[in-house]
Amino acid sequence: MGRAGRILVVDDDPLIRKSLVAFLERNDWSVSTAAHGADALARLDEDGEFDLVLSDVDMPRLDGLGLLERLRERKPDLPVIMITGCGTIENAVAAMRAGASHYVTKPLRDDEILHAIDREIERSSLLRERTVLRAENERLRRSLRKRFSVDDVIGRDAKMKQVFETAEMVADTRATVLITGESGTGKTLIARAIHYNSNRSDNPFVEVNCGALPETLLESELFGHAKGAFTGAHADRVGKFQLADTGTIFLDEIGNASSAFQVKLLRVLQDREFERIGQHETVQVDVRVVLATNKDLARAVQAGDFREDLYYRINVVSIELPPLRERRDDLDLLANHFLDKYVDENQKDVRGIDDEALAALRAYAWPGNVRELENVIERAVVLTREPVITKADLPRALLDGTADPEVVLPDPGESMLPLKDALAHPEKRIIERALRANKWNRQRTADVLQVNRTTLFNKMKKYGLLKD
Ligand SMILES: Nc1ncnc2c1ncn2[C@@H]1O[C@H](COP(=O)(O)OP(=O)(O)OP(=O)(O)O)[C@@H](O)[C@H]1O
Ligand SMILES: [Mg+2]
Repeated sequence: MGRAGRILVVDDDPLIRKSLVAFLERNDWSVSTAAHGADALARLDEDGEFDLVLSDVDMPRLDGLGLLERLRERKPDLPVIMITGCGTIENAVAAMRAGASHYVTKPLRDDEILHAIDREIERSSLLRERTVLRAENERLRRSLRKRFSVDDVIGRDAKMKQVFETAEMVADTRATVLITGESGTGKTLIARAIHYNSNRSDNPFVEVNCGALPETLLESELFGHAKGAFTGAHADRVGKFQLADTGTIFLDEIGNASSAFQVKLLRVLQDREFERIGQHETVQVDVRVVLATNKDLARAVQAGDFREDLYYRINVVSIELPPLRERRDDLDLLANHFLDKYVDENQKDVRGIDDEALAALRAYAWPGNVRELENVIERAVVLTREPVITKADLPRALLDGTADPEVVLPDPGESMLPLKDALAHPEKRIIERALRANKWNRQRTADVLQVNRTTLFNKMKKYGLLKD
């Protein structure tokens, strides 16, 4: 058996072949031979693995350089040492350029050949180890990342599995991803998971809420501005798109972006370039874009509120998060996940949720989705005096089957309404709930709410709560 492996000797001269075989075998290598390049390729196909190829340059059929070229395509890691003709430096240079690992010149000297072979074999095994190591590192990094991101995303429901699958599949690409779903379904969570599971995870992840800023501010926030571009622009400002260069930008609530802003966004998505406000110079960036909305964008397009071209541009890969009420199987899982989280955070000795409480959680419609569930569990953990969560620790409204305005945050669309209108929404619910609890007796309801009967009557009228 060869000491370190197998060598394929390629030479058209049978005498040279014979002497090389004898010499190499004497030095404990196992050796096969081929008479020219084409023969060598056939040998490699049949005989499988060689550790090194030692090849002449001038040969009929496929010559040494031709062989080298094929080998670099098929087996880029296989070391190849070329034997070049009597002192022609051109051959040696051409061989090295074509990807030879090394060359030896004729007339062949034994020690030179042995030395070259040892060195190339050692180098290639080192390379192989490094590749394995690198893959291993990468795998570890990924599992770490998962621990911080994807593992925190709970879901066994078929629809959620589909969500995870898509997210993992697109993570490593630069494809634009649109995440849709009601408020509190986990859109932000998935956006982060996509970034932290991508090959950009070591680079920036930048979040921008497009619904929260007036158009001009949003523009300067995203694209930046030059000093003096507008009143109040006291210094140059780098925009979020530039900050996110080589990483990911997450544009949240894209459904609320103004039409002027939509035009600008379209261009960045198409060309990955833009100008800062007040500057002519074009800035180029390499940014992965993830967007989210709780609006039905297709309908917004039909209504003329959202640009159709932009819609198609961002809707390359879409991920739809189902509302919690459609993930019945995940409810217990999520409830227990949040229980652990808040028991830990509050250092309480609570061990579970009793059956009755669980049944109530399952029966509820969860208009605020996972966020609402998280809030309900946190509240219960903080309030309870028992070692398990019971029905008594759950909000009354949840047990009535109605949403509790203290728990359901208004959806971000609603919160952009004038304050007066935004407040009307929970006010109506509170009045309705109090009326129901008091069997629609107005005096008692007015007393409970500490308003006079006229005020109550007027509000009932305003909210369409007058029954008869
Ligand atoms: N599948 C899940 N597993 C664990 N936690 C979740 C899951 N989905 C959502 N959450 C938690 O619920 C809360 C709301 O999620 P998130 O902020 O991602 O929702 P969202 O869809 O972005 O809401 P909004 O539309 O209001 O921005 C967060 O605290 C998040 O960590
Ligand atoms: Mg969000």
